[in-house]
Amino acid sequence: MREIKITDDTFWVGVNDRTTDLFEGLWPIDTTGISYNSYAIKDRKNVLIDLAKAFKTDDFFDQISNIVPFSDINYIILNHMEPDHTGVIKTLRMLSPQAEIICTPKAVRMLNEYYGITERIRTVNDGDTLDIGSRTISFHHVPFVHWPETMVTYDQKTNVLFSCDAFGGYGALQGALFDDEYSDMAFYEKESLRYYANIVAKFALPVLNAIKKLSPLEIKCIAPSHGLVWRKSPAQIVELYRRWAEYGTNGGEKGVTLLYGSMYGNTEIMMNAIAEGIASGGICPEIFDVSRNHPSYMLPALLVNKGVAAGAPTYEAALFPYMQNILEKAALKSIRNKKAVYFGSYGWSKGALKKTRELTEPLGWHYIGDLEFAGGPKPHDIKKGFELGRLIAEAASE
Ligand SMILES: Cc1cc2nc3c(=O)[nH]c(=O)nc-3n(C[C@H](O)[C@H](O)[C@H](O)COP(=O)(O)O)c2cc1C
Ligand SMILES: [Fe+2]
Ligand SMILES: [Fe+2]
Repeated sequence: MREIKITDDTFWVGVNDRTTDLFEGLWPIDTTGISYNSYAIKDRKNVLIDLAKAFKTDDFFDQISNIVPFSDINYIILNHMEPDHTGVIKTLRMLSPQAEIICTPKAVRMLNEYYGITERIRTVNDGDTLDIGSRTISFHHVPFVHWPETMVTYDQKTNVLFSCDAFGGYGALQGALFDDEYSDMAFYEKESLRYYANIVAKFALPVLNAIKKLSPLEIKCIAPSHGLVWRKSPAQIVELYRRWAEYGTNGGEKGVTLLYGSMYGNTEIMMNAIAEGIASGGICPEIFDVSRNHPSYMLPALLVNKGVAAGAPTYEAALFPYMQNILEKAALKSIRNKKAVYFGSYGWSKGALKKTRELTEPLGWHYIGDLEFAGGPKPHDIKKGFELGRLIAEAASE
């Protein structure tokens, strides 16, 4: 395999995963894949930074041994203990028994709990440095980006930040590693947003804290553990992450996510009236049938758009289950401070509106209107629906 150099004696030794269907067993990556980026620095002391999931381990280890023999590895830096970056550590321990593991104090217990590893571990505190020959590297704790034990590693000579999950994205690498090598950056922006909304969104405050903490560093290149390496415009991915994290408090941008579910088409008819109302208010809604779209793809829209129109029928005195599912996922991921409307059909009693509000009002969703109707919508219901659409468009434009 071709040697992939990031910069001065620093190499990418990661793997592309194009066969796992669900990341974390939850989020579809079947069409996009994902990369587990791992890095090697050759110096007087040889260092590996983050590893990979236990997947294609022969390929992974072949790449490493092409750069540095296992007997010559001095340090294995584990920025984050999640098994997508540590899954091969037990095998690596056997291949490089002399190598010392470097991690935060909080990772020590996890190393034992996940892998039974208790020896040759060196813990580093926030801001600690390590001289590895021609350069010094430093360690910066970023708790909860993504787990409590997480840190990032900075090379003071090359100004590369090895940021692990922070600034990462879905999307296996398409034959090139760097942001300046891709013409279709829209793909990676979109997949980075989907990754952020699925994996990181819950931790918006820790993300903002980490960005603030790392801002004094001169960063020429961001090398995350998933997705592209940003050497042309590292500020671009930082600014995107900052913007996405700020949506957690400012509620997002002008736009409406229109979620609907319908068993027999009555709520769907109303959905069309609502969509027309939203469009007449100057916003083209992002429409999702909640039964046919995975939450992974709806969460980014919910995160970004300030307005939500949620339409679903009453089902067994409560809410249509797929609507409940996406609203629960929105709660799990802290999708907060939205302007919202509810609409939906019922047969003999109500229940869906109450459940919708129960699920989302604790998230700071503010309902500016709702529309429950029995059976099929009548012309006057359709008129009300159009008006409700116009209202949510107006509220989502503020
Ligand atoms: C399995 C099932 C359970 C339902 N449970 C309730 C209920 O508890 N209360 C109610 O008022 N309507 C209930 N309904 C009726 C639906 O809310 C009603 O048929 C509605 O018009 C469906 O809207 P849709 O055409 O958009 O699917 C239920 C319908 C089905 C199929
Ligand atoms: Fe993680
Ligand atoms: Fe990860």
